[in-house]
Amino acid sequence: MKIIETIDELRAQVKEWRKEGFRVGLVPTMGYLHEGHKSLIDRAVAENDRVVVSDFVNPMQFGPSEDLASYPRDLDKDAKLCEEAGAHVIFHPEASEMYHEDFSSFVDMNTLTKGLCGKTRPIHFRGVCTVLTKLFHIVGADRAYFGQKDAQQLAVVKHMVQDLNFDMEIIGCPIIREEDGLAKSSRNTYLSSEERQAALVLSKSLKVGKQMLEAGERNCKKILREVSAIIEKEPLAKIDYVEIVSWPNLLPVEEVEGQILLAMAVYVGKTRLIDNIIF
Ligand code: PAF
Repeated sequence: MKIIETIDELRAQVKEWRKEGFRVGLVPTMGYLHEGHKSLIDRAVAENDRVVVSDFVNPMQFGPSEDLASYPRDLDKDAKLCEEAGAHVIFHPEASEMYHEDFSSFVDMNTLTKGLCGKTRPIHFRGVCTVLTKLFHIVGADRAYFGQKDAQQLAVVKHMVQDLNFDMEIIGCPIIREEDGLAKSSRNTYLSSEERQAALVLSKSLKVGKQMLEAGERNCKKILREVSAIIEKEPLAKIDYVEIVSWPNLLPVEEVEGQILLAMAVYVGKTRLIDNIIF
């Protein structure tokens, strides 16, 4: 497995693969890889001849008061995981390689990005769409793999690919959880042991929401009231949002009809965690 740091080298590598007729899969990540990422890489390896894992903490998707500087990084550990999973290249550019000094073009979206995480992270999805557009152009993959934990991101990326006619398939993969239910996330590393315990309130409250839906409850307000009450009982947790929206259009819904996304962002201590279910 190679670690490639420049766009030119990566393009040359993909060109070689294309000459051989290889199908190429891309797994975009910000590194500090865990089992959730590994499940994406495993699927990409199973479905493509060659797999690129991008490992780039994208400054453009962090707001000024967010955790860009402290975001965890460990390239050696990432390389080991990628190699064991059978990936062929890690693309690990410097920020200056991706964004030259007078960089001034952005990809943004009017719908889908304004609600849920977009409310408290107003520039986040513009950064995500811009870096992914760049990565999609650079790699020219046949398929790219995303986790459902960032459900809004998954919906946004699928929509962007359709709007902008990228000739590639976006594959959504299930959330990978710790044994006790906590969704795997690079940000879990910020949690103290007390906060780690408190963070279980996300998956526990979602479970209750799912049980209500399975039992036939269709009134969103009732479901949200129950789910929020569970989170509010946890002293270390503070709700950013708990919402039910249509899936994959992310529109507000009052009564559950068709597919819905029950999504939440909750601060546990200073750490903002997200989780969801699609029903
Ligand atoms: O989900 C992430 O890790 C990032 O948002 C992504 C898709 C790699 C873009 O920087």
